[in-house]
Amino acid sequence: MEKKFKRTLVTTALPYANGPVHIGHLAGVYVPADIYTRYLRLKGEEVILIGGSDEHGVPITLKAKAEGISPQDVVDRYHAIIKKSFEEFGISFDIYSRTSSEIHAKTASEFFRKLYDKGVFIEKTSEQYYDEEAKQFLADRYITGTCPHCKNERAYGDQCEACGTSLNATDLINPKSAISGSVPVLRETKHWYLPLDKYEDFLRKWILEDHKEWKPNVYGQCKSWLDMGLQPRAVSRDLDWGVPVPVEGAEGKVLYVWFDAPIGYISNTKELLPDSWERWWKDPETKLVHFIGKDNIVFHCIVFPTMLKAEGSFILPENVPANEFLNLEGDKISTSRNWAVWLHEYLVDFPGKQDVLRYVLTANAPETKDNDFTWRDFQARNNNELVAVLGNFVNRAMVLTHKYFEGKVPACGELSEYDRNTLAEFAGVKSELENYLENYRFRDALKEAMNLARIGNKYLADTEPWKLAKTDMSRVATILNLALQISANLAIAFEPFLPFSAKKLRDMLNMGSVEWNLLGRIDILPEGQLLKQPVLLFEKIEDAQVEAQVQKLLDTKKANELKNHQASPVRENIDFEDFLKLDIRVGKVLECQKVPKADKLLQFKIDDGLGGRTIVSGIAKHYNPEDLVGKQVCFVANLAPRKLKGIESQGMILSAEDADGKLVVIEPEQNVKPGSEVK
Ligand code: 2FM
Ligand code: ZN
Repeated sequence: MEKKFKRTLVTTALPYANGPVHIGHLAGVYVPADIYTRYLRLKGEEVILIGGSDEHGVPITLKAKAEGISPQDVVDRYHAIIKKSFEEFGISFDIYSRTSSEIHAKTASEFFRKLYDKGVFIEKTSEQYYDEEAKQFLADRYITGTCPHCKNERAYGDQCEACGTSLNATDLINPKSAISGSVPVLRETKHWYLPLDKYEDFLRKWILEDHKEWKPNVYGQCKSWLDMGLQPRAVSRDLDWGVPVPVEGAEGKVLYVWFDAPIGYISNTKELLPDSWERWWKDPETKLVHFIGKDNIVFHCIVFPTMLKAEGSFILPENVPANEFLNLEGDKISTSRNWAVWLHEYLVDFPGKQDVLRYVLTANAPETKDNDFTWRDFQARNNNELVAVLGNFVNRAMVLTHKYFEGKVPACGELSEYDRNTLAEFAGVKSELENYLENYRFRDALKEAMNLARIGNKYLADTEPWKLAKTDMSRVATILNLALQISANLAIAFEPFLPFSAKKLRDMLNMGSVEWNLLGRIDILPEGQLLKQPVLLFEKIEDAQVEAQVQKLLDTKKANELKNHQASPVRENIDFEDFLKLDIRVGKVLECQKVPKADKLLQFKIDDGLGGRTIVSGIAKHYNPEDLVGKQVCFVANLAPRKLKGIESQGMILSAEDADGKLVVIEPEQNVKPGSEVK
């Protein structure tokens, strides 16, 4: 049975304040959350949209160090930029605050203390790497070294990206601090752990049984975490930037950024509504919805709910409609490689075109799988949909009304059969839209809204009122009345998606404020109402404009290539005998498939000229398994077999790694017999 709620609390992932925001952020989190909130507001429901910057964590401290400024300076700079971008794109936050605020420190600290006093945490002392030069403990990601499994020399302390194995920093051979380059030493340190394992039964029931309606990508990720079994997670860190651990003897320790950040949703609500915030967080009649990207699923579906449950007085999220990722022109968006369309730069190149980007990002939102943003698609959607359908229809209705009726809404006479058929077509739009919006299917919802514009456009094209003007003005009046009523419907239907254009349209039609419930009606505009002069809602984007953007990306690529051109230093010399020990062969890929529950691994069946062998290789992020079948590859044939995820790997497939970490398998220049030796 569907639950009934009185109000909705919408939160958006708090972006790290160590860089500006780009189209991936907008598409994945902020536009969908804004559409949802605007829709509920338009329906007259009680709803708030909470956002803010995530201002703690190690990367911010490293950026500060690199620039010789304080972490506070770093977050002050980016918080301002991010906040402004969201405002400019019409993300209608009720509050956009930050986690370096006092109220947040107090809220997070009290939250931790409550769990501490309830005896929720496990206290554990362990040995961790410490950088004596940088004078700080090192997060696993900031230690590099040689992988004990595949001997890749650039493995990270948490994972080897070459063979896909999860590591502990202490597993690495020849560990090095990524911060200072020095050799770290082991030091004892005490931390507090949230025992997720003790909440497994609760989580299994709450998610797997009670929330089967969650999006398949979210539900599936939760299920696979739960099936793997949960471990206690440290919620404190040795760092001097963050919320201090409020326990005696915890000097020099702060709350782990992923412990304090989600509490930021609570602090920001408190800041907005100091007297009534608890109604939003503690009343079971509040529906809590977290909008996030897929990399945040575990924290919002498992860790934060466990924290809330352990605290005891808070509600849990009702839904977490996480999106997948948006790529840019076929490549993963990357801040460090500057492979992104930055929101503040977009507005310099396309001033006033916020809605165009909102439209394209929603039409192409990564709701069920990763999607690609391309400038050609951006241009096509603008020119063929926004300009040619929505803009064109509204403009024709407005211009004709000014031409034939002095800009006043003409009277609607008797409806023809064609009129009635047209109206029948749009009768279902409201409930369709509601159904999609309430189920977080914003792409489909937008398509439905656009369909309404198509119906209008077709109606004018088919009835051709400009031809009837000489013979039948009362028919022209009816046609234009209906066209204007459809335009008014569009002003309502598009308000959640394209708020700037919807407002322009409302103003042109002199509609004043609108409400969702008017949608579907054909008496929104009273007869005789004076319209304003038409303005164009959208304008064509020329080839030269998108070519300039594509060129900008090509320049970025070139600059990255130049930067990366420097190859890594050559390793110590080896003897010829050592080289001869390696038995490298050519094989043909007979079968290739993903290894379940390992996002980096592919399992190969190789024709090695000797009856075949199985090899597991950590290149799943770089290839679709089916694309490799039939290819010839080179592999080390005499590497001692070892088990990866329970599969015995009999060798190692050779790939070249570029400076971006992209792996490319080595193929012989011509086909050779499987089993041929590489010399
Ligand atoms: O992934 C990120 O960008 C995190 N800063 C998201 C935090 S969401 C919430 F918990 F605050
Ligand atoms: Zn490895």
